[in-house]
Amino acid sequence: MGMEQGEFSLSAGEFARIKARVYSVAGISLSDAKRTLVISRLSKILRALELPSFNAYVDYLERGGSAEDGQDFINALTTNLTRFYREDHHFEHLRSHVRALMAERPRGSRLRIWSAGCSTGQEPYTIALDLLAAFPDLRRWDFKILATDIDTAVIAKAAAGVYPESELAGLSSERARLFAKGGDGSIRIPAAERDLVSFKPLNLIGAWPMRGPFDAIFCRNVAIYFDKPTQGEMFGRFSQMLAPEGFLYIGHSENLGSGGEGFRLVGKTIYQSREKLNKRAA
Ligand SMILES: C[S@@+](CC[C@H](N)C(=O)[O-])C[C@H]1O[C@@H](n2cnc3c(N)ncnc32)[C@H](O)[C@@H]1O
Repeated sequence: MGMEQGEFSLSAGEFARIKARVYSVAGISLSDAKRTLVISRLSKILRALELPSFNAYVDYLERGGSAEDGQDFINALTTNLTRFYREDHHFEHLRSHVRALMAERPRGSRLRIWSAGCSTGQEPYTIALDLLAAFPDLRRWDFKILATDIDTAVIAKAAAGVYPESELAGLSSERARLFAKGGDGSIRIPAAERDLVSFKPLNLIGAWPMRGPFDAIFCRNVAIYFDKPTQGEMFGRFSQMLAPEGFLYIGHSENLGSGGEGFRLVGKTIYQSREKLNKRAA
């Protein structure tokens, strides 16, 4: 409520401590413009923990906080904006890639896609809905989508697969029909598509326990929160996780920077692993 605004003040030193912590844990670089956001997002936690100041809160996280407290801190500071069919041209490109793979590989083969930084699930579910509608035979393939995010709250929401009907705004009626109607103003992801997606918490600047390789990786609107060295390292690691002829899709305002060495640009914010192409040619 408005009355609670200004309940806690954030000194430059406290802001610096919070910035250092979210950077070291999640790779997220908070600009000075995010000060108000930090105050509003973290004040709720301070109140719940009955702590008097941001300094007391960081002390608490450093000295006695549980893993859950640490996770709440990260969850509060992520930005999770997303939507179904965001950047349509990526899904169009993916469709043609999957069509080609299905023509090449024996029916029933392995096909893997990773949505890294999936937020509340709209991105991996768009992949599932779009591909199953285009290629019903995919149900007979070993086809799976891995969807990961550092924020455990969005992962829980995503796994439920239930959204307000307003999420359909801007979608064609043909696309809107891909969703199941809840009758109470909600929409649901049908079981066939929901079952294709495994949601897992994963920090992109930490260890990646999965083996891969992935035929496509979506990592869109995540790197914008990282500094250049962190972005470069992550994109370099993606090239190691891609299958031959696999594609990487990134956000509309992003580029690969120093991580672009192993890739060639094949479309607007669409990259193919160059290292793998060379290996195949050799
Ligand atoms: C703006 S959303 C992008 C969602 C979706 N990819 C899209 O483009 O619509 C950014 C997501 O990146 C996640 N994120 C931020 N830092 C991360 C990290 N270190 N590891 C994994 N995910 C991270 C956030 O939790 C957030 O859900």
